Amino acid sequence: MHPFDPGYAQEPYAALVRDYPGPDVYPATDFRVEWGPIFHRGRLDGTARVLVIGQDPAAHEAVTRRILVGTAGRRFQGFLAKLGIDTSYVMVNTYLYSVYGQHGGNAHAKDEHIAAYRHSWLDALVAHQPIEAVIALGGLADTAYQTWRQTPSGAAYSGAYQHILHPTYPDSAAGSGTDPAVAMTKLLTNWNGALDALHGVVTPDTSRPLTPYGSTLTPADLATIPSDDLPPGLPAWMRSDEPWASRQGTTPTEKRATIMVQIPPDQRPFS
Ligand code: URA
Repeated sequence: MHPFDPGYAQEPYAALVRDYPGPDVYPATDFRVEWGPIFHRGRLDGTARVLVIGQDPAAHEAVTRRILVGTAGRRFQGFLAKLGIDTSYVMVNTYLYSVYGQHGGNAHAKDEHIAAYRHSWLDALVAHQPIEAVIALGGLADTAYQTWRQTPSGAAYSGAYQHILHPTYPDSAAGSGTDPAVAMTKLLTNWNGALDALHGVVTPDTSRPLTPYGSTLTPADLATIPSDDLPPGLPAWMRSDEPWASRQGTTPTEKRATIMVQIPPDQRPFS
């Protein structure tokens, strides 16, 4: 059997994907609007108990048309698994489009038009799903949550909330000179705190004793993204633990226009 995400046929989500903000709200100087909006990942059928706010989609997401399927998604899927949450979640990003350039993300953190559309999603999700906890991945997602909390429906939300370091924090910290091992330990210590706060608060799909992270991320700490989360027919290697999409090009324009998709070497039965 190959369970799949049936998409956005039902309201209120159909209306939200029919009428989304374009380059007038998301300027093409700061967002990769040319790759289209990417809306969500997870349950829209009234069974999501955890609502996740991510940051912005990247190369893998542009191909699968669902968010948090690359490195960040696979790391965070493992966090959910530690809570016993296997499929009862729904994820939206702070931004509908991938941020382009260094400053685009922060520059639009408080943009009211971007927030208005995001609020429509958050309102729909808490109105139609039994959300017990909201988890924000990184600072921009926390700002998105706090901004929503200032609206009437955001203020009415009474479940748990955790703001955790973004799953690719170690990669960006290492990029700006932090020891990668130190950065990873910081992430995992932060995530252990959130696991302690949420374990027993969120109703699990599968009850499991809490296994905290050690000081490094091990293969056992990752979880596979279920096929239920992706459009029908996507090959299993698109949910594997290996990266398979990357931006390529020798000029900024060419790189912006090109995503290379390559089946990971260990996922090639034909070779
Ligand atoms: N991909 C997403 O969709 N969101 C993130 O926050 C990171 C990667």
